[in-house]
Amino acid sequence: MNGSRSMASGKEEVSTLRVGADDILYRSASMRSVMATVNLIAQSDVSVLLLGESGSGKEVIARAVHELSPRSEGMFVPINCASLSGDILENELFGHERGAFTSADEQKRGLFELADAGTVFLDEINEMGLHVQPKLLRVLERREFRRVGGTKKIKVDLRIIAASNVDLDAEVRMRRFREDLYYRLKVITLVMPPLRDRREDIPELARYFLRRLRKNDRRPADFSERALGRLRNYAWPGNVRELKNVVESLVVMSSREVVDVEDLPASIRASATPSEIVIRVGMSMSEIEGEILRRYLEAYPTKKAAAKALGIGLRTLHAKVKQHRLNRSRGAGRRQ
Ligand SMILES: Nc1ncnc2c1ncn2[C@@H]1O[C@H](COP(=O)(O)OP(=O)(O)O)[C@@H](O)[C@H]1O
Ligand SMILES: [Mg+2]
Repeated sequence: MNGSRSMASGKEEVSTLRVGADDILYRSASMRSVMATVNLIAQSDVSVLLLGESGSGKEVIARAVHELSPRSEGMFVPINCASLSGDILENELFGHERGAFTSADEQKRGLFELADAGTVFLDEINEMGLHVQPKLLRVLERREFRRVGGTKKIKVDLRIIAASNVDLDAEVRMRRFREDLYYRLKVITLVMPPLRDRREDIPELARYFLRRLRKNDRRPADFSERALGRLRNYAWPGNVRELKNVVESLVVMSSREVVDVEDLPASIRASATPSEIVIRVGMSMSEIEGEILRRYLEAYPTKKAAAKALGIGLRTLHAKVKQHRLNRSRGAGRRQ
């Protein structure tokens, strides 16, 4: 079942939430705020609109809302509105009566009926056809619908969570999405931050996926600090899904104990911008210090050189490295 867990390490804290067989991992302030909202809205029954780039974790968050809610005993039913053309989507969602169309020789219950007492996740809601949208609005407002070709009203008790990776405002302006449905859906809107805006999460996620994906303690066991630095700098257009896929390919391709920069795909290897340190509003002092240390350790060949450039003593640097646990990976190949 669910349960939150935090591993305190100084001020930087990694939290996890168990959702089904997977964990949601996060450390960044922006994800902590998303998870706080998830905990709040799970207790209510309002519809939720999840916005964010593909792979940023919308579905896993929708599942978390369901699992933390009083509906957790009911089903979580995900459906992708983009993968089914208009009539087929309508048929899947609402079901049909016998004789509703030529090939309908039996009555069929739709997903809204199956998900009764549970949660329906409508992914890529922006792709839902204009003729299906008013029927969804009716479900949201009155908790009832009719099967295709049917006259009987069917009552359901469900929660709808919708997701979109495009700007729904623009879709409404272009009349591809109904305004009334949009306002009904967006009462609670949660925006998933792209991975490149929460780089503190990247090393934790990379190590988590490595632990999960490697087969019975086979290699590789960890990433070098330099490799983690490259992973942090890469822009991750495919977000967490892309990171997971990269780790999965490393598990197959790399036979080293510790993944180093040379093992990474070329696009990620090239991602270092050693002269820049990005500090975002929302980062704590400790996170900022950790970021600075990481970049200097990467940019200078020795700790002594890094300490000199930072204007601090070597012992101070050692203490800070320990405090920020920057030494965790063995065999990083860095000289003392
Ligand atoms: N914070 C996270 N911690 C662990 N795994 C995550 C996290 N966010 C996303 N994932 C994983 O990344 C993949 C993509 O997430 P998903 O929810 O499908 O994204 P989206 O629905 O936005 O495309 C899934 O395998 C999911 O389990
Ligand atoms: Mg998705």
